[in-house]
Amino acid sequence: MANLASEQSMLKGVILAGGIGKRLEPLTSITNKHLLPVYSKPMIYYPLQMLIDAGITDIMIVTGGNNAGDFLRLLGNGIEFGLKHIHYTYQKGEGGIADALAMAEHFAEGGKLVVILGDNIIEKSIRDYVEKFRAQPEGAKVILKEVEDPERFGVAEIKDGRLISVEEKPAKPKSNYIVTGIYMYDSQVFDIIRTLKPSGRGELEITDVNNAYIKKGQMIYDILNGWWTDAGTFDSLLRANKLVAEMAMSNKK
Ligand code: DAU
Repeated sequence: MANLASEQSMLKGVILAGGIGKRLEPLTSITNKHLLPVYSKPMIYYPLQMLIDAGITDIMIVTGGNNAGDFLRLLGNGIEFGLKHIHYTYQKGEGGIADALAMAEHFAEGGKLVVILGDNIIEKSIRDYVEKFRAQPEGAKVILKEVEDPERFGVAEIKDGRLISVEEKPAKPKSNYIVTGIYMYDSQVFDIIRTLKPSGRGELEITDVNNAYIKKGQMIYDILNGWWTDAGTFDSLLRANKLVAEMAMSNKK
């Protein structure tokens, strides 16, 4: 019984670090976006530490492109992070976030996952949200954040305290709350991904996955405490550098 309970609450982590980083060219012409520096560390260190701080140590990195081998050279088995092993897999092409996540199906082994986009950086721990998801019997959870430029992201429509839809990069956002790149899914996610069709930008969209869970009535959300940023454009990469640097300075004081 005890074993069954602990298996059910076992959560694995997936970091999505594929794609071509087109919006950061020429910085990404000869390396993967997630290996670029954010203040004192390569970008990939932040989502990795985010999972570890949340108590997740069974982790897969999905990468792609011409520089995938550099992740192994940089991180190896994650000993520097106190890990025994890191799993790696390769996304051919750049078919979208949901396409990258599909690569982790065998790793998930039918269990629940915490999925982090490799260019998302946060101030505080997500441990509390993850703990609540461990206890959630089924479905999914997204983490929202209020921002000033919602049109760049997946935008949440909230009615009577419930998330009723997500719209990807809308011209007229229905709220200032966006879906961050921190997602939690049960094993249904892979069946949902198999039903998706490529969007206008030719990608399998994670927003379509989230809308499928909303339709089933199996999506809940939390609102993130502390600052959040992505780092996939020149402006957001600069912002990420500044926020991390300020945090490092204030920790030194
Ligand atoms: O950062 C949060 C936002 O991320 C969400 O609000 C949006 O709903 C979501 O679509 C995503 O938007 P972006 O347009 O910013 O995603 P981007 O294409 O920059 O990809 C984000 C990360 O996902 C990237 O750092 C690596 C991973 N990725 C992306 C693609 C397209 C892959 O692993 N493979 C891919 O093919």
